[in-house]
Parts: sequence; structure tokens; C-alpha cells
Amino acid sequence: MLQSGKFEVILEGLSDQGFSVVSDFLDSSSVARLNAEFDELYRKGAFARAKIGKGSLASANDEIRRDEILWFDDRSLGPAQKEFWGELIRLKEALNERLFLGLWDLEGHFALYPPGGFYQRHLDRFSNDDARTVSIVFYLNDHWRPGDGGELTIYQDGESARIVEPRAATLVCFLSDRIEHEVQPAHRERRSFAGWFRRRKA
Ligand code: OGA
Ligand code: MN
Repeated sequence: MLQSGKFEVILEGLSDQGFSVVSDFLDSSSVARLNAEFDELYRKGAFARAKIGKGSLASANDEIRRDEILWFDDRSLGPAQKEFWGELIRLKEALNERLFLGLWDLEGHFALYPPGGFYQRHLDRFSNDDARTVSIVFYLNDHWRPGDGGELTIYQDGESARIVEPRAATLVCFLSDRIEHEVQPAHRERRSFAGWFRRRKA
């Protein structure tokens, strides 16, 4: 099957170096509609403080991360969320076809980092659940400027390999079990979507 250019770039990055960054995953009108849905949900009070860990081991810890999140429920998405989710599902299929990753489902949430918000260096795969295979981060911040902070640092072999500004329409993908990463303190409100393609449990 022929892949569109952005899928090609993502596939190549993931297989060559374990991560990839594309700057225009969605067009600006889709990003604007996604931001409008984000606003609406935030205003309704649908977001909650993020936790670390999974299941009964999960707890809030503002020394490690400081963001507020809202999980996507694929039965009740707004039109822009639905469109974005559909694009991610197509990406999942391309990853399965070309990289044989056996990805089964997708989970993800919007995140809002208030000024001062950060997420310390970590791996996304849980110690008590190894289903998360490919991590996705998508940014929603228009007019992000140097000095606004909030960059994503991607580590490889223990060293900083790439610094990504959280600019609207940028999509980052990486292998969940291998790539450590960190959100630098944001100096203004910072919005993202974080998601995970998971394999089926054995
Ligand atoms: C996460 C995460 C990165 C970002 O939620 O696990 O690493 O840039 N987010 O928002
Ligand atoms: Mn992470």
C-alpha cells in the first residue's frame, strides 16, 4: 500500500532510530477545531490531575509530573477528536503493515501543562504492564516561541538526542520501552495529546 509522505517519515524514523518527529501531521484548520474542543472540555471541568503508574499503583506526584489530563473515550469524541483519532488508527495500521509491531489498540489523553508544569525524564512503559509499544505526542500550541519552555527532550543511549518544541501540528512517535523523554518546565500554558499504541496482552 502506498503511504502518504508523513507516514513514510514516521515509519522510517521509528525503524532507524526509535523515534520520529513530523511538523505537520494535521492541517491548521483541524488543529484549530481540536483546540476548540479542548477549550470546551476544559471549561466544563472534564480534566483531572495526572497520575503516575497504572491501576491501583497510580498516584499523583507533583515532583514528577504536573499536568491535567482528559482521557479520550472513542465512543464519545467530538468531530475534530474523531478525525484525529481516525488518522492515528490509520497510522497504527501502517505501522503494523510495515514494521510488524502487532499493535492492537490505542489509548490517549489531552494534557494541559500550566505555567511551571513539567514531566521528569521517564519511560512510558509501565513496570506492571508491557502493552504500550509506540508512544505518540501531538502538540496544539500556536505561536510557540523560544523561551516559552515546555520542550520535549528525547534521550537515546542515555544522551539527549533531540529537543522538540511543542508547536501546533507537530507529532512525535517513539518506542515506548526504549526512549526516555522529559517535558521541560513550560513558561506558558502548554497543550498536548499523549497516546499509546498497545499490543495485545499475551
Ligand atoms: C507523557 C509525555 C510528553 C509531552 O504524557 O507521557 O511524556 O510532550 N508527554 O507532552
Ligand atoms: Mn511520556
